[in-house]
Amino acid sequence: MKMRKYVYGEPFETEAVLRDIEISEGNVAYGEVSLEEGFVFTYQMAENDIVYGLGEANRGINKRGYCYISNNTDIPEHTEDQRSLYGAHNFLVVSGEKTFGLFVDYPARLTFDIGYTRMDTLTIRCEEANLYLYLIEGESAYEIVRAFRKLIGRSYIPPKFAFGYGQSRWGYVTKEDFYKVAEGYRKNHIPMDMIYMDIDYMQDYKDFTLNKKNFQDFPEFVQKMKEQNLRLVPIIDAGVKVEKGYEVYEEGVKNGYFCKREDGSDFVAAVWPGDTHFPDMLNEDARRWFGEKYRILTEQGIEAFWNDMNEPAIFYTPEGVKKAQEVVKRFLQDTEGETSIFEVRDAIMNLANNKEDYQSFYHQVNGTRIRHDKVHNLFGYYMTRAAGEAFERIAPEKRFLMFSRSSYIGMHRYGGIWTGDNKAWWSHLLLNIKMMPSLNMCGFLYTGADLGGFGADTTRDLLLRWLALGVFTPLMRNHAALGTREQECYQFENIADFRHIIEVRYRLIPYLYSEYMKAALDDDLYFKPLAFTYPKDSMALQVEDQLMLGNEIMIAPIYTQNAKGRYVYLPEEMKFVKFLSDGTLYEQILPAGHHYVEIALNEVPLFIRQNKCIPIASSAEYVEAIDTKNLTLIGYQNAEYTLYEDDGIHKTYDNPSNLKKLILK
Ligand code: NOJ
Repeated sequence: MKMRKYVYGEPFETEAVLRDIEISEGNVAYGEVSLEEGFVFTYQMAENDIVYGLGEANRGINKRGYCYISNNTDIPEHTEDQRSLYGAHNFLVVSGEKTFGLFVDYPARLTFDIGYTRMDTLTIRCEEANLYLYLIEGESAYEIVRAFRKLIGRSYIPPKFAFGYGQSRWGYVTKEDFYKVAEGYRKNHIPMDMIYMDIDYMQDYKDFTLNKKNFQDFPEFVQKMKEQNLRLVPIIDAGVKVEKGYEVYEEGVKNGYFCKREDGSDFVAAVWPGDTHFPDMLNEDARRWFGEKYRILTEQGIEAFWNDMNEPAIFYTPEGVKKAQEVVKRFLQDTEGETSIFEVRDAIMNLANNKEDYQSFYHQVNGTRIRHDKVHNLFGYYMTRAAGEAFERIAPEKRFLMFSRSSYIGMHRYGGIWTGDNKAWWSHLLLNIKMMPSLNMCGFLYTGADLGGFGADTTRDLLLRWLALGVFTPLMRNHAALGTREQECYQFENIADFRHIIEVRYRLIPYLYSEYMKAALDDDLYFKPLAFTYPKDSMALQVEDQLMLGNEIMIAPIYTQNAKGRYVYLPEEMKFVKFLSDGTLYEQILPAGHHYVEIALNEVPLFIRQNKCIPIASSAEYVEAIDTKNLTLIGYQNAEYTLYEDDGIHKTYDNPSNLKKLILK
């Protein structure tokens, strides 16, 4: 295996890569690099080459056939034509005639044209040739991915409770709202471990504050929830509200911790609280200061957070508004009809996430001033790093739950991600399946989508099918937008179906947690495309809607409306297992090949690989209550399984007694 590092110009040190590698001189080993116009890498793909990677990106597991742009964006419309989502994960593997991996460590806008302009050409392009290019050779795509993962360091490990189910909704405001959710789940005996607090828990959307009217006795409230074995997970937004007397604002201004305009004044961008300043997350002192603020909540009993709006999202800036006003003014005074109504529309529509705004503020990194757009894709990473580094100081031996919306490779060491504002669409359930292995390749193991869909009104069947996928994603969270139909499991008829599906999650947690931990500790994948396990099987290479999970199972979720079952492809003989609604299991050995399997709305299917077995527990209403001492093995007779287990709280990962051999007799 060979790993090469090429340097072009003067790259920004993103700290995505942890290992030191000698710089290679000369031409790249594969493809060609031209520096005539910025940086352009081109490679002629063979007809059957597959391209894996790019983490949080649109479309398929095989990325070939479209154009993707790394430019972290607050984008609630994940339609097929979107080229940028919230993350920049610039790692890909070309697999086929020649097999190699590429990581472009470049924190600004970067385009991956993977057979879009010409079907046979891969082109990677960016404006400035200031970057590191890593090139990894290996026998297979899987081997290359694993080598890449070693390069970027161990993935984030959450506490075990984070493998439980979580309920979220933008719109829970008062304590009563939260108690109602707790009651809805506990009374109906639907397992749950977390309730998420969206922006309304804060006072006027000010980070690290609590609404004065609703949360006067917050520690007591946190404690009361804990007594029900529920953890509250507050959101933290990137922008700090501009408000005289607000401590975080005052301290940030006084110490110069906010991003600045060219003239040295603090940059202003409007987000939920109205005008905000962005903490300079790339500046070490500012990062430490912002990270320390999480203490305000950890000291009140909080152990879990989600970081949002950290692309950073901008609704508008005063400068942008002024420009738009001028267009409107011109339009209103225009008696000749020279200002088009469309110009007015665009002036308003383009206020949010405007390119010019991202070019108009600066970071201070090790004494050098850097314009934001040159390092744009690092903001979410460094915000989450601020928190991660703070947790190390707050309780070095303990794990905290942390995941972020925006990210860059490197952030995978500090937290997980959720995949942002999807919709209650069947196509987004499928997108969720496809995105998971790509995210794992880029180091993001603790991931999941908003189950049921964030935007638009969900339906009972969509939510049930989505939960049946969520049973397997490390982050299993039902989240919805303000104004949408209420989608807590108890809002629908026949609650028993929901209870059953979430119970299956809890029955599987010993296995899922064990596979997660093994993947994290060994820089391996939790979710893999079938092609990684069966590289010689030409049919497996094409499968985009089934995934390998850990080393024992394959999943094939249902993602179409009104389906009573689905077709699956088995590269080898497997045991088809269905968790039936009465709590029993249906088991059937199926030979390799194509099969149609029936799966009712209230069932969870999985496939156990030949000569393998997995442990299952009895269900429990929260993670800590799972009886891991009495596990049953299912699968093939005489198969062995190595179970990883620890206390789920501390960082005692390397204790040999964490591993236990189990044999199915
Ligand atoms: C955007 C996030 O993506 C979403 O999950 C959240 O509910 C809203 N911001 C409000 O905080």
